[in-house]
Amino acid sequence: MIHLKNVSKTYKNGVHALRNIDLQIEDGEFVYVIGPTGSGKSTLIKLLDGEEVPNEGQVIVNDINVGKLRHSRVPVYRRNIGVVFQDFRLLPKMTVFENIAFALEILAMGKIEIRRRVREVLDLVDLRDKAKAFPSELSGGQQQRATIGRAIANHPKVLIADEPTGNLDPEKSKEIVELLEKINEVENTTIVMVTHDSDLVNTYKKRTIALEEGCIVSDLMEGGYLKHD
Ligand SMILES: Nc1ncnc2c1ncn2[C@@H]1O[C@H](COP(=O)(O)OP(=O)(O)O)[C@@H](O)[C@H]1O
Ligand SMILES: [Mg+2]
Repeated sequence: MIHLKNVSKTYKNGVHALRNIDLQIEDGEFVYVIGPTGSGKSTLIKLLDGEEVPNEGQVIVNDINVGKLRHSRVPVYRRNIGVVFQDFRLLPKMTVFENIAFALEILAMGKIEIRRRVREVLDLVDLRDKAKAFPSELSGGQQQRATIGRAIANHPKVLIADEPTGNLDPEKSKEIVELLEKINEVENTTIVMVTHDSDLVNTYKKRTIALEEGCIVSDLMEGGYLKHD
């Protein structure tokens, strides 16, 4: 479960990125976070993955008080959540198979178990025939599917994605949302997806949390978002 209690984040330059955020996301939910540029979406993601700490309030993810984690504990914490960004960030000199396997090798998982899980993940993200390809040999959509595969390889309970479709055309964006839906269903992963694509949000309707100037301005279970920027 994700629980934000009265969270505020002000950067050193005085910008109030988030103000008094109260938010609860249950295990197994798939929610969108939407809002115009500068509304605080990425700041919310950075609080969830421990990259930033709140000035006020608490950020609790799977019973861990993320804002209070010691610096040295943050990498360990991150191994148990999946994170996906707009720019794909695959390791260029490794194949797709190796990129996904690498995420498991650092967990000291056995070789046979790693191969089994990587094949399972490749099936899930539909890249079995690209296992030996390098990132530069893949389309943008395929690269993003590979990064998603890498992010979920360790069965994280939570996958957070900051504009995962930001560099993709509408067709490929739909593919990514459908893949995230499948992961949500098959692996029961809680998914928090940031986007500013109101078409996407209105096509694949889900709980939608809208931010504006650092505040939650709506949180609708039935989804939908009226564009006003
Ligand atoms: N590291 C930072 N230092 C100072 N200000 C920042 C920093 N990161 C973001 N901001 C500011 O905080 C506000 C929210 O930014 P952000 O969370 O990136 O919004 P979004 O992802 O919705 O575009 C913006 O005004 C932005 O300029
Ligand atoms: Mg952002």
